[in-house]
Formats: sequence, structure tokens, C-alpha cells
Amino acid sequence: MRAIFLSLMASMLWACETASSRCASPPPAMMNQSPPPTNATPSVYEQIGAAPFATLVELHYQRIDKDTRIRAMFPEDLSPASEAVRNLREFFIQYFGGPQEYSARKGHPRLRARHMGFKIDQAAREAWLEHALASLEDSALKHNIPAACKAEIGEYLFRVSQFMINTD
Ligand code: HEM
Repeated sequence: MRAIFLSLMASMLWACETASSRCASPPPAMMNQSPPPTNATPSVYEQIGAAPFATLVELHYQRIDKDTRIRAMFPEDLSPASEAVRNLREFFIQYFGGPQEYSARKGHPRLRARHMGFKIDQAAREAWLEHALASLEDSALKHNIPAACKAEIGEYLFRVSQFMINTD
């Protein structure tokens, strides 16, 4: 039972961090892996480019900057030019099918491992997700993100933020 659970977690983590996502495709079974790229299904990045991700992350960190529930966890500098903004922006762009700059700079994302140093409980996850989804909404309006792409990004944020919880 434990082996099945661990193998499921491992495949979920792989899908959370490495698949490059495509808007028009059906959801991959059990979050295992996105369907292989084809010309008929351009990636989210191919459809919307980098700017919406930059806006999303800048607004997300602006919101976190003002949120006393989780602010203390994050580095002091959360400005648009900060390392934190760059990390998350490059990660999202990479995940959604853009240039692999995050991994070129930092190696495999190992998202869950990178978050183990922070106490992330359900309340922290909810605060983080609230800001991420509000920022996605703002970015979608500003950049006219197609509804299918917006939904796909939102579902991803919902799912992976749950996976980042590491504290009761
Ligand atoms: C669930 C609530 C979450 C909390 C409280 C949280 C908290 C943090 C903190 C404190 C950092 C360090 C900031 C830095 O130095 O860059 C960080 C980094 C990061 N987070 Fe999260 N995070 C959460 C969810 C997520 C999710 C859902 C994703 C991706 C979908 C994500 C992706 C990242 C990335 C890519 C980094 C940069 C890691 C690095 O390269 O050092 N986080 N997060």
C-alpha cells in the first residue's frame, strides 16, 4: 500500500513540475503526464507568451507582501526585479511550455523538496492560492488570456498548491 502511495506521489510530482501543458487537450489521466506536443495543440505559453506570467507573478508577490498570514516566510525583496519573482516567473513559463530557463539556472525544480524548509499548512496554502488566483484573474483581464488557458493555469495552481502542504 505504502509503495503504491509513494509511486503515485512520485508520478504526481513529475507531472506537477515537468510536463509542458497544452490548453486544448483533455486532462491527463491521474496527473501523470501531459499529452505529447503536436502542432494542433499549442502549449499555453505558445498561445499567450511570457507577459501574462510576468504579470501574474508580480501581482502575486505584491499581494503576499501585504499578507501578514504568510509574509514572514518569504524573502524581504518581493519587488518585480527580485530573485523570488524571477524564480516563480521562469518556473511557470517553463512548466507551461516556454523556454527552460528555470532549469538551466537552477536544475530540476524539485518543488516539494524546495518547499520543505517552510511550514506550509492548509491555511498557508489557502492564502497563497487566494493571491495566485486573484493575480491570474487580473492578468487574464489585462492580457486577454483565452478562457481555456486561464482555466488550465488555475487548475494547475489549485492542484499543485495542495501538493505543497507539508505541515498539519
Ligand atoms: C502552497 C503554498 C505555497 C507557499 C506558502 C509557498 C512558499 C514559497 C516560499 C516561501 C518560497 C521562497 C521564495 C524564494 O526564495 O523564491 C517559494 C519559492 C518557490 N515556489 Fe512556492 N509556495 C507555495 C506554493 C507554490 C506552488 C503551488 C508553486 C508552483 C506551482 C510554487 C513554486 C515556487 C517556486 C518555483 C519557487 C522558487 C524555488 C527556487 O527556485 O528556489 N510554490 N515558495
